[in-house]
Amino acid sequence: MSYILQLIYLVASVTFILGLKFLGNPATARKGNLIAAFGMGIAIFGTIFLFTIKDKAGNDTGVHLHNLEFIFGALLIGSILGWISAKKVQMTAMPEMVSLFNGMGGACAMLISIIEFQHLTEDPSLVFSSLPVGHLLTIIIGMIIGSISFAGSMVAWGKLSGNVKDKSFGKQQFINVGLMFVILVMGYMVVFSGSENAILLFYGVLVLSLIYGVLFVMPIGGADMPVVISLLNSFTGVAAACGGFLYDNKVMLVGGILVGSAGTLLTIVMCKAMNRSLLNVLIGNFGGGAKGEATGSSTFEGSIKEVSASDAAILMRYAKKVIIVPGYGLAVAQAQHVVHDLELLLESEGVEVKYAIHPVAGRMPGHMNVLLAESNVSYDKLVEMEEINPEFNTTDVVLVVGANDVVNPAAKTDPNSPIFGMPILDVENAANVIVNKRSMKAGYAGIENELFYKPKTSMLFGDAKKALTELVSEIKALG
Ligand code: TAP
Repeated sequence: MSYILQLIYLVASVTFILGLKFLGNPATARKGNLIAAFGMGIAIFGTIFLFTIKDKAGNDTGVHLHNLEFIFGALLIGSILGWISAKKVQMTAMPEMVSLFNGMGGACAMLISIIEFQHLTEDPSLVFSSLPVGHLLTIIIGMIIGSISFAGSMVAWGKLSGNVKDKSFGKQQFINVGLMFVILVMGYMVVFSGSENAILLFYGVLVLSLIYGVLFVMPIGGADMPVVISLLNSFTGVAAACGGFLYDNKVMLVGGILVGSAGTLLTIVMCKAMNRSLLNVLIGNFGGGAKGEATGSSTFEGSIKEVSASDAAILMRYAKKVIIVPGYGLAVAQAQHVVHDLELLLESEGVEVKYAIHPVAGRMPGHMNVLLAESNVSYDKLVEMEEINPEFNTTDVVLVVGANDVVNPAAKTDPNSPIFGMPILDVENAANVIVNKRSMKAGYAGIENELFYKPKTSMLFGDAKKALTELVSEIKALG
């Protein structure tokens, strides 16, 4: 049977790669998810029914997995909980859920290492110096990374749900570096000392790694959590790959490596799109809400000009081309369906409508694409920043909905701004800019936005869903 299982693992590995490829485009993302889930399904059931246990010498015993009632019980409970939480989760709470699920992956890798260490050391006649070094090394690496990822993800989850506040104390970075050094030295001793203290040291490493996970994430600015979650995600991937090594399980190895590398790439892409280094994210304490209190009493020239829904409706109804810029506020207000209604209505009146998608609009990668796909906005209407920027100067009206930092000209003009260098959408090149938000408060970066004071800009204040619903009915009333 073993070769059939190997074949299943090969097919599953290919589905993971195809899944990732398809996930790269909103039009194929759903298919990619299903393909990879199918691969994971056949890998799990193949293992349950076809895997045979090896003895200590590595010989096949021909015995299949037992404890099937526990395995299926856990599968059932996990599937039900996963299904319900995925169905219920709000788009704005998605990073929270990813963090929680990622933490569970880290916990699995940690538990695998603990169980395998116990298997290795349970024999009373054990001679510690004869323990296989490679095996021990994989166990300890998997445990350190898995427990950091688990504890860190739990703190990230707590921060995103508002239950844990950012907290750092003096010299925390030095303490973290010192703690990591102690963990590595103790881990080295577990693997190479051959001493009976290895068992005690092993559990010491476990506790310290969990503490390190908490201390590592605790001081990072709450709003930087998506980047940290992506980084922790890559940690979990590496920890899972260690499990693949331990069990000589190719599909676990491939899956772990794919998660590890995808998480690393995503971390890099996010940092690049925000024009910040990973170090700045980790120690910068950027964003986090505390600074987001800009009030409108600003140093900018010009003044705030308010527009009513009926005037905005006239401007848009008689425009040739409108570009909608969605941001985090659109997600908060759950205004994705009404924005689609607005788009269809304008198109029925002969107006050309497109969406300008900034790579870090919202709070997670692809946030706006997923949100708009939910309301069936056609994918070809979603235009990436590089492609849409040259189009703004031929656009009559730009409607900015709940976006702020991604349209802030300070990124280009103010070298002292925390977002200086971040590529932005050049909305100020359009003939008219209408900005919908609830107040003059700042966004994620906690800074004021000169765009709101420009002569071409008018503010349409109010909750996005309410304001756009009003806009739709005003356009309809124009006939
Ligand atoms: P933000 O700069 O955060 O601005 C969002 C604006 O939406 C706020 O100014 C807020 O103003 C408004 N808003 C909130 N609730 C609203 C509602 N119900 N109706 C209408 N408006 C509402 O968002 P952005 O422009 O999308 O930029 C994203 C930011 O997140 C960037 O700085 C980016 O670097 C950061 N970030 C993104 C990611 C990814 S991967 N997407 C990851 C980490 C960090 P009011 O309070 O006045 O309404």
